[in-house]
Amino acid sequence: MSVYIVTLLCIILGLLGPISAHDVKGSTYCEFYNETMCGGEFKEDCVEKEMCGPHDPDKRNHCYVLWQYDSVTQKSTTKLKGCFLDSKECYDKQRCVEKNADRKKQHFFCCCDGNMCNRNFSWDPQPTIPPPIVQEYEPVPNTEQQLFTFMMLISIPALLLFLIFIFSVFYYCRRKKLGYFNEIPTMEPGPISQPSPNLGNRPIQLVEIKARGRFGAVWKAKLHSEIVAVKVFPQQDKQSWVTEQEIFKLAHMDHEDILRFIGVEKRGDSVLIEFWLITAYHEKGSLCDYLKANVVSWPEMCRIAESMARGLMHLHEEIPANKADGYKPAVAHRDFKSKNVLLKNDMTACIADFGLALIFHPGKPCGDTHGQVGTRRYMAPEVLEGAINFTRDSFLRIDMYACGLVLWELASRCTAQDGPIGEYRLPFEEEIGLHPSLEDMQECVVAKKERPLILETWRKHPGLLAICDTMEECWDHDAEARLSASCVMERVACLSRTTILNSSTLIRVDNASEPLITKESSM
Ligand code: ADE
Repeated sequence: MSVYIVTLLCIILGLLGPISAHDVKGSTYCEFYNETMCGGEFKEDCVEKEMCGPHDPDKRNHCYVLWQYDSVTQKSTTKLKGCFLDSKECYDKQRCVEKNADRKKQHFFCCCDGNMCNRNFSWDPQPTIPPPIVQEYEPVPNTEQQLFTFMMLISIPALLLFLIFIFSVFYYCRRKKLGYFNEIPTMEPGPISQPSPNLGNRPIQLVEIKARGRFGAVWKAKLHSEIVAVKVFPQQDKQSWVTEQEIFKLAHMDHEDILRFIGVEKRGDSVLIEFWLITAYHEKGSLCDYLKANVVSWPEMCRIAESMARGLMHLHEEIPANKADGYKPAVAHRDFKSKNVLLKNDMTACIADFGLALIFHPGKPCGDTHGQVGTRRYMAPEVLEGAINFTRDSFLRIDMYACGLVLWELASRCTAQDGPIGEYRLPFEEEIGLHPSLEDMQECVVAKKERPLILETWRKHPGLLAICDTMEECWDHDAEARLSASCVMERVACLSRTTILNSSTLIRVDNASEPLITKESSM
């Protein structure tokens, strides 16, 4: 670009040529030279004297030189010399000196003040002063501009910090409200206190869904350093959450065969509210899930059955207030099934899921408006018929019918039976499949009085035989003939203490006495 400008300048100035060769008083004279007019080579005889033209009284005339520097040959070639009209940069300069330090630019220019001052010229590079920073905004007077710049430098980071702070506070509050999903809690681990009415929002980290039930999902979760279970109830199932915590908060509910309650929480806001129930977590999961994937030995079966029956017995029991604890009313579960029995690591069971449970306060009506609740498959004939008495004992007997079906599930996967163990099947799965309607259930259980099939191979084992008898007495069509939970517990406890010697003889192992040999028929 500069080459074009210089060439253009050369042509214009060259065409103008020297004005005069004579000295005129008061006039300025400069050396005149135009390379293009001198055949491209500097020749002394081609240099002339130029008289600079008239100008306004307030303007001045100067002389100039334009030359080219070849950085390879390190040679300077004069291009133009002549008069130069008023320019402040030339004022009072007696010598024609180029001060620009940039050698990369090929063309150099100097100007000076005084007659023939452009006879000689030179390049005297000066250290460059960094150019002032050009601001993007409107120019303002210097001090104001500095103040403005200073204010901007201070205020922008301050504003950013303020926004980050506001955002963090907002984010923290929101996370506190909604719970910590997949996030490591920031609080120090601490002991889990006794169940409290409402825990406030604790730093709970939901890890993975363990089970899906009628009422939302059960999550494996982390609370401080403890693994817990969180049952998340959607808004429409709030009543189950309320009922379940009511049951857990009853006196005497802190029992080894009842799922341990930790607390409840409300999470989210009005639009997306969730109700959380926090309990102990049991890695083995539900009895149903366990039996699907595993078989159980005879001692394992006894352990599970005994603790399960003891849990149900405790739930059904009315316990008077004592010094340590208050009064516990009788409670019916109303959704007893293998999915609602959890297996602990020591192969004992605990009872869970009290969302449909019913409390029986003495002297008060049970207050239930609808008797046909629970899981269809486990419904007793009187429930399927819609013919229940709304009394405490009626509800407890309904639970016992379901308990008989769970004992059957256990026996079906027990290795004590004589023969190959079949795949896990739900009660009545063989008879009516996986998705029976209410009518299917009524026809099977009420009309045909069918029950799950007990194989002859099971009865060959005296212990399993006793279990088979027990389950049949639990699912009796006549509700009043059914065994109570305490009776089932006693029977299984007795069986647990008994080691099977062979198919007809049992040895009862008592703490106090010698092993007592009894005949199978005596049990
Ligand atoms: N499934 C349902 N509740 C559970 C719990 N508390 N622990 C493990 N699995 C479960």
